[in-house]
Amino acid sequence: MRYLGNKTRLLGFIGEVLRRRGIHGGAAVDPFCGTASVARSLKRRGFRVLAADILEMGHVFARTYVQAAAPPDLSGLADVLGRRAPTLADAVAYLNRLPPAPDFISSHFAPRDGLLAPYDRRYFRPENAARIDAVRRTLEEWRRAGLLGDDGYYVLLASLIEAVDRVANTTGVYASWVKTWQPNARRALRLRVPQVVPGGGCRAERADAIELVARCEPFDLLYIDPPYNNRQYCAYYHIPEILATGWFDGPTPLRGVAGLLHDADKRSLWSSRRRAGAALEELVARAPCRHVVMSYNAEGIIPERTIERVLRSYGRTGTYRRYTCRYRRYRSDHDRANRRYRSDTVEEHLYCVSR
Ligand SMILES: C[S@@+](CC[C@H](N)C(=O)[O-])C[C@H]1O[C@@H](n2cnc3c(N)ncnc32)[C@H](O)[C@@H]1O
Repeated sequence: MRYLGNKTRLLGFIGEVLRRRGIHGGAAVDPFCGTASVARSLKRRGFRVLAADILEMGHVFARTYVQAAAPPDLSGLADVLGRRAPTLADAVAYLNRLPPAPDFISSHFAPRDGLLAPYDRRYFRPENAARIDAVRRTLEEWRRAGLLGDDGYYVLLASLIEAVDRVANTTGVYASWVKTWQPNARRALRLRVPQVVPGGGCRAERADAIELVARCEPFDLLYIDPPYNNRQYCAYYHIPEILATGWFDGPTPLRGVAGLLHDADKRSLWSSRRRAGAALEELVARAPCRHVVMSYNAEGIIPERTIERVLRSYGRTGTYRRYTCRYRRYRSDHDRANRRYRSDTVEEHLYCVSR
């Protein structure tokens, strides 16, 4: 999925640094998991992983790619899907065939003829919006009727959020839509079967990073990948967040041109230049772990000298080191209009210390 700070392309670099430092297995915590790209790769490497995020969408990905031990049991859907032992592929095919059924997403995030909308938001073509609505409501109904267990619900929800991102009429973030319909937005919504990573013993939560690590039993690896600038993820990914939480438990008021959520509890200290350094210090001080590995971008708002001071002061002498990888910048067109970058490549650092 298109996600600011998604580390999929840096997994090789992260894996190589872990290997060089002799960090092989045990318990790992990834409290800023986002798309769960790193958490699932740690799971593949044999770590028992706890993955969390302040956003519900991160929790959905962590449930799918980290906590789920195997493809979910969908036997409760046998009658609906007309199969004795339905598979994920059967469920995905069924959801892909659902007729459009306009609901919340159609009302608020797509143009609808004849309806008075406060803003003519063009995040989705109307036919895709009505199919997103149909799939989201079906998942909720299946779950509430007891036909779908938690694993099945989260895995299919992750599949929907990823499919929605592929047809969103944005340049990568949901802070605004594009005025004309982009080629990807003209394609039909199509869910794919998520690849669950086999293996038990891993968990997912929705939590604040500091609160989470402070209540953890001692563990081996703390991998941290906090936001590195002042853009709040809850405002840049509000539509995936609405899909993750649903709109079925009462009114979901939206605000402003983009239709943002009222989400004060999901705003992050880590996106504040004034507060992020202190947050890092508190997190590292309170984490009962043997190794800290921190991803941070060379253009991040926490000064490098602060990161170095914090890690050195909570680590064993001689174990601090910074590793660097230069790679092509993730750039959304939304950025392009407003931002000037020094170059097309960016340095991504891994700051490591052992205790
Ligand atoms: C740089 S992204 C992580 C990207 C992730 N490693 C990936 O590969 O997709 C930072 C994440 O931190 C989350 N976040 C921000 N503040 C947080 C907090 N206080 N506690 C937990 N998660 C937080 C954001 O929602 C976002 O998903």
